[in-house]
Amino acid sequence: MNNINKTYHVATYGCQMNEHESEKIEGMLNSLGCNKHDDIKTADIIVVNTCCIRESAEQKIISNIGFLKTYKRKNEELIIIVCGCLTQQKDLAKKIFGRFKFVDIIIGTQNLHMIPQYLLQKINDGKRTLSIADDELNVYENVPVNRYNKPFAFVNVMYGCDNYCTYCIVPYVRGNERSRTPEKILDDIHNLADQGYKEIMLLGQNVNSYGAGLDIDINFSQLLNKIKNISGIERIRFMTSHPKDLSEELIEVFKDKKAICNHIHLPVQAGSDRILKLMNRKYDKARYLSLVEQIRAVSPDIAITTDIIVGFPSETEEEFQETLDLVEKVQYDSAFTFMYSKRSGTKAAEMGCHISKEVKKERLARLLELQNAITANKNKAMEGKIVRVLVEGKREKTGQYFGKTECFKLVNFESEEDVVGKFVDLKVARALNNSLAGQLL
Ligand code: SAH
Ligand code: SF4
Ligand code: F3S
Repeated sequence: MNNINKTYHVATYGCQMNEHESEKIEGMLNSLGCNKHDDIKTADIIVVNTCCIRESAEQKIISNIGFLKTYKRKNEELIIIVCGCLTQQKDLAKKIFGRFKFVDIIIGTQNLHMIPQYLLQKINDGKRTLSIADDELNVYENVPVNRYNKPFAFVNVMYGCDNYCTYCIVPYVRGNERSRTPEKILDDIHNLADQGYKEIMLLGQNVNSYGAGLDIDINFSQLLNKIKNISGIERIRFMTSHPKDLSEELIEVFKDKKAICNHIHLPVQAGSDRILKLMNRKYDKARYLSLVEQIRAVSPDIAITTDIIVGFPSETEEEFQETLDLVEKVQYDSAFTFMYSKRSGTKAAEMGCHISKEVKKERLARLLELQNAITANKNKAMEGKIVRVLVEGKREKTGQYFGKTECFKLVNFESEEDVVGKFVDLKVARALNNSLAGQLL
């Protein structure tokens, strides 16, 4: 048996997909006999799990990787592994491998399960590895997972993306869409329930197209209907829903008031039909607004959150105003807002009329001002209400506990008793800008 008895530190950038992959990396390292170590400066192995969704994120990560050289100078035995979406841009991965000789292993998103093998090769033979696969679009199962937040667990339902939104690099770095079989997903969730997990988040770039390509006939709402009957799982969330594939059948699922959380993340990206078309989103503003209406007809108090990009190439002031208008109409509970970032290899990167940074910044500021006011209003309306929270942890600084409501709102509160991992009922005492202050009942 390989027991390499080293400490490791995993630095994660990016979305829930990456966070969950870091849990898998840690699971694999634990099964080699390694131990998690909080301080990056003194770990024996450093893993950098990267994201490249926007240029700024990519540059920051590359400079952080460059900085690791100082640690290697102090400790020649240090092993540095770089993985995640950024490495899947092959030329960039080659460049990093050539320029940063202190990086020992670069591995892509499609063959992450090879980490133990490459690590052992490094330890036993001193061999550096650059391994990026893009032809192995399989689904790897049975990888051990070191989960971060007990009672809450991520479960992949699918990998990759086929949508090719023209601004987005994900299809190029995550490969084609492929679904896990319902048996594997249900097995995982049964196991999690047996271990005491209470909330799961189903992950996929576009969960609404779940099932396409499988040998059996199943769609996402049918999958959800199977999952919601698993006893012990009290909350089910899923991310992300692409509006183009949001079916009536799936909207009906929100009638369930037991396990399916009263929250949907429904990225709109823009409010102008011309820009949505250029983005290749395959819906228009009217269709999106009608989906919101249908969802609210089924569940009037549902929380709706979104992603929005400002300054897509050629976006005019009037078109940006349409985004503001849509935000005003929908009244989102919260929104992730981004300035468009040019990603080479994507279609939008080749489009004319890129918007200046100043204009993008100014549009983002206006959008944020509007959304913050809406979020604040929505939070204010919660004051005095009773909410049920699944407690995720205790803050070191303030000693306060925190957790989320079914609608994905963050609540901080005091408790004498250790309530981490439990459901508690709280009265919302005060609304803050991005969170609620609760009182234990
Ligand atoms: N599959 C998900 C999430 C993808 S990435 C979805 O379709 O919603 C998360 C968000 O990053 C996207 O929704 C989009 O708003 C933003 N994003 C993606 N590429 C971007 C780019 N080039 N510039 C700015 N924001 C981008
Ligand atoms: Fe990117 Fe669009 Fe796929 Fe989401 S659906 S990952 S935004 S290409
Ligand atoms: Fe996620 Fe970033 Fe990759 S957002 S899918 S980690 S490019």
